[in-house]
Order: sequence, then structure tokens, then C-alpha cells
Amino acid sequence: MCGIVGYVGEENPKDFLLESLKKLEYRGYDSSGIALQNNDNIQIIKCSGKIQDLEDKIGKSNLIHSHLGIAHTRWATHGEANERNAHPHRVGKVTIVHNGIIENANELKNRLVNEGIVFCSETDTEIACAVFNYYYRGNPIEAIENAIQELKGSYAFGILFEDQDALYAVRKDSPLIVGLGENENYIASDILAIADSTKKYMLLEDDEIAEITKDRVTVYYNREVINKEVLDVPENVESANKGTYRHFMLKEIMEEPFVLRRMINHYLYHSEELFDITPYEEIHIVACGSALYAGMIGKSLFEEKAHIRCVADVASEYRYKTTLYDRKTLVILVSQSGETADTIAAMRKAIENNVDTLAIVNVKTSTIAREAKYHLFIEAGPEIAVATTKAYLLQTAMFSLLALNAAHKKGLEENYDLIMKNLQNLPSLLKKVLDDKDYIQKMAIDIKDARDAFFIGRGVDYSMCLEGSLKLKEVSYTHCDAYQAGELKHGTISLIEDGVPVFVIITDDKIKDKTESNAIEVEARKAKVFTITNDESIKTHYDKYVVPKIDDYFQPILVVPVFQLLGYYVALARGLDIDQPRNLAKSVTVE
Ligand code: G6P
Repeated sequence: MCGIVGYVGEENPKDFLLESLKKLEYRGYDSSGIALQNNDNIQIIKCSGKIQDLEDKIGKSNLIHSHLGIAHTRWATHGEANERNAHPHRVGKVTIVHNGIIENANELKNRLVNEGIVFCSETDTEIACAVFNYYYRGNPIEAIENAIQELKGSYAFGILFEDQDALYAVRKDSPLIVGLGENENYIASDILAIADSTKKYMLLEDDEIAEITKDRVTVYYNREVINKEVLDVPENVESANKGTYRHFMLKEIMEEPFVLRRMINHYLYHSEELFDITPYEEIHIVACGSALYAGMIGKSLFEEKAHIRCVADVASEYRYKTTLYDRKTLVILVSQSGETADTIAAMRKAIENNVDTLAIVNVKTSTIAREAKYHLFIEAGPEIAVATTKAYLLQTAMFSLLALNAAHKKGLEENYDLIMKNLQNLPSLLKKVLDDKDYIQKMAIDIKDARDAFFIGRGVDYSMCLEGSLKLKEVSYTHCDAYQAGELKHGTISLIEDGVPVFVIITDDKIKDKTESNAIEVEARKAKVFTITNDESIKTHYDKYVVPKIDDYFQPILVVPVFQLLGYYVALARGLDIDQPRNLAKSVTVE
């Protein structure tokens, strides 16, 4: 959420900063800005809107000569997304960009206002900037040390002091790295921003302060200089481009068979690397958004197939509630970014209670990947579209593999060998579904003017409904709800009226008749019933799409992409900003 970059070197920072901001735009995109420094001359250019708007504005400006600068792309927390609230912010001699939230901003503001500071924006960032300036008496490290004692909350700051020829950075509970180049160095909140410029970087830990010039990086902790390990940028971090696709979302959906094959092949030959969940009496799967819905599929499989007690919980709830860890428990954190604030907090709660943690994560350098006791990387590669597709799919596949492995280990799966054999066909079957995109696009065009849509299913089908509903609402702005099919009658059926689309998922043989009856009930209220099933024999109501039938561990992998494409094509038909839907951010690093 929000992106930070900074540059110090021999070039004018503008090009690096703009290019890097574009790579981070998926993290927040309602306003942006840059600050360039030349001795005590600081030029700030910012605006609301996309990075392109900033680039246009910069193009029309006379830039100062500079070799030191910071930049930011914002997802508004405090105050509207306008130019005034966009970063960088400057107070006195200090200019900053900030990710995170300062929780005691109001308290600090009252004190600073009494001291005569006048604030121009509604942001907590400007208040933090005033705190840095308050403590600045010519020694940046001392000013930062004193300021961070006062700031409560989460932060990653890029900081310029007008009389210092260096870039400063500090962070807590919000990621920030220092990239090491040739005669130039960088800061970034995401490794993607620097991966095209350098393969070496340092990871700042909480409250470490970096002082960065073009040929030197000094890191302080508690005012002492500390040695930092220089790390290699992982190999699969490359800046993603859309290739021949119009949108990252479609490109990432179409990559699914490839990344799925890569995962399956890996575990077919290295099954010993699959984490063994069988020693645990209870599993808590904790995540947010789509990652939670992948986890809900995991919960069904762990219970149904491996007979292990499991709950799947929303991280923002889990972190605050009373949790009984009175059995041998494993907490599984699921996160594409590995930086979702609530999921991090849930992980830390488990760690504080001496409970084992397993991260199912995509970004290897992320906080969750580093702090969880165990990790499994899904290796989806960079995912840029804000609505997750391929990462969700691989999270789901990871749960399927874990459940199959556990059921096998416990002697509960007599068809294990056959299922493993069938698994090799899964990527081709998925490709077959994606090849039907024209059919799915027709469905999308059919519902493109719908105001509401409903998704119903039972058991694991319900978990797929949740993801189908989320995909359609987040990219196409259709109001969508997902219900357990049997629950619809208890209130929600009053919303079913003539022509409202109802997507019915039926893949579970055991309960297909029950869900089918619920489909008939909504049809009787004149809903347009679209059935998505793996069973040819299910009656066609208004429309039906049949996915190939596969062992039920892996069935969701052939169903959910239908809804990913559906959401994509409805958004396309409505002419929306598919990769960057309104109000969203890819990685939610605030509570
Ligand atoms: C945001 C994204 C969702 C994602 C959720 C969890 O809301 O828009 O697509 O599922 O965060 O993100 P994570 O990185 O933890 O998987």
C-alpha cells in the first residue's frame, strides 16, 4: 500500500524515480509526487491521479539540477486523494515520503500546533515530517532517532534534509530496502522497484536508520553503526510487463497453466519438501481477501480428506480475539505479498504464543516469509494486477497438495497413486478452460448491465463462490454476494428478482441435488441461473458451463478461473480500469 523510492547518484533522479514509481503503481495509485534536491534547494512536484499525470506535470516543469531525490505513489489513508495530501511533504528543512500510519498523529499535531507549526494537509505524514524537523539541529541520525521514539504506528520513511547531501531511510512494520548500485544507491518499499537496476540490496529491520550517499551506505541502530548483510535479489524478481496483453489481469490468468505446472512438477519430484501437517491436532488458516478464500478451500480439504481439525479466519479478527492454543496447533498464514498488516499481526500473535507458523507466500523477501517459522513459496512470479488471480490459484493448489500429502500419510487416501498421476494433466485441463474464454466473455456481456449478482454453493463450492463474487465485484463494481446455497432462503432470496444473475457452483457429488434444488428455487423467482459444474448431467437453467471433472482435491483449480475471466470481461465491457480498480491497493500494509 503506497510505494516509496529514492535515488542518490550521479544522474538526475527523475527518470529512475518515475520508472520505479510505475513499477510500484499497483500498490496505490490515487496520487503521487517527487522531490528533487540540490544542496538546500528542494523542488517538489505532485498531483492527484495516476503516475502518468505526474509524468505529464514533470514534463511541463523546469527541473532543478539534482542527483538526490525521493518519490511516492499513494493510497490515501489520512485525507482525500488530492495534490495537497500527496507526498512528498515538507516542513522546515525536512522533506519526506511515508508508507504506513502514524497512530498518535492527532496528539502530536496538537502539540506542534501549540508550538506554532501550520499544517497544509490532512495527512499524518506531514505531522511526522514536522516531528523530524522539530528534532533536526544539523544531525540527521539524532533527529531520526528522537523522532521515531515519538511516532507510534507503522512507517517506512524516505527522508531528505535540505543541508545534507544524503538520502535517509527508516522503517517499522512497513517494508523498506536499500538497493546497492554502481556509483548510485536507492531505497524502495518493494524489491520490484530496483530489480532492473541492481541485484544487491540490504533489508532494513525495524528502527534501523540508513544514511545513503552515492558510494556509501551506513546503517545505525540505537545510534551505533551496525554491519548489514548484503543480499542478492532473488532470481525470479523481474519487472513484469504486459507483453501482448492489454491488461496484467488477463496476462496473469493466462499464465496460470504454466505456473501451476511448475509447482506440480516441483512437488512431484520433491514431495519431501511439502510441509507435513499431520503432527498437528488443530490448524488455523489466517489471511485476508482472496488468500482467505484459498484458505477456506484448504480448511475443507484438511477436514474432509486428512481429518485434521481446522478453522479459517479473517486476519483482522483473529489478531484481536481470544484464541485457545490448547492443542498442538499450526497457524498457516496465506499471503501473496507477505506484507498484509493484519496477517503479519496474526502471525506475530501465534509466535508470541509459541505456536508453530507456516507461511504460504509469494514474495520471498517479505516480512511474513522471513518471520514465520516455516514457509512454502508458491513461486507465482510478480503479480501486478490488483485483483489476484494466479497467486490465488497457486495458494489453492498448495492447500490441495498439503491435504493430499496428509491424507496419504495418514492412510486415508487409497487412490493416492492415481490422483498423483492425474495431477500431471491438471495444467492442460486448466488451459482448456481458459481456451473457452470467448464463451465466458459472452456470459460476461450477458450480465454486463446487471446491478447485482449472487453466487451460491455448498461446502467447498461455497468457498469458490466467495472468490467468484469477490473477483466480479472488485474489478467490475457489480454488487455481488456469495451465500451457502441452503442459507439463501433465510432472507437474501427477497433480493432475487426478474433477470438477476445467480451463479450456482455444483462440483460436489454428495450435495449436488441439494444445491440443484436451490437453483430451482431462484429460477422460480425469475433469476438468470448460470450453473458452473463438473457434471454434464446437471440441468441447464439459463446457461451452464461444464468444467472437466478431476479429483476433488483439485477441482477448484478448474472452476475459479471461470470467474476470474468473468470478472475481467465484465470490467472490460464496462470500460473500467481493470488492473487498478478504484479504491483498492494490491498490498494492504495498514490495518
Ligand atoms: C488486497 C488485495 C487482494 C488480496 C488481499 C490479501 O485486498 O487486493 O487481492 O487477496 O489484499 O493480500 P495478500 O498479499 O496478503 O495475499
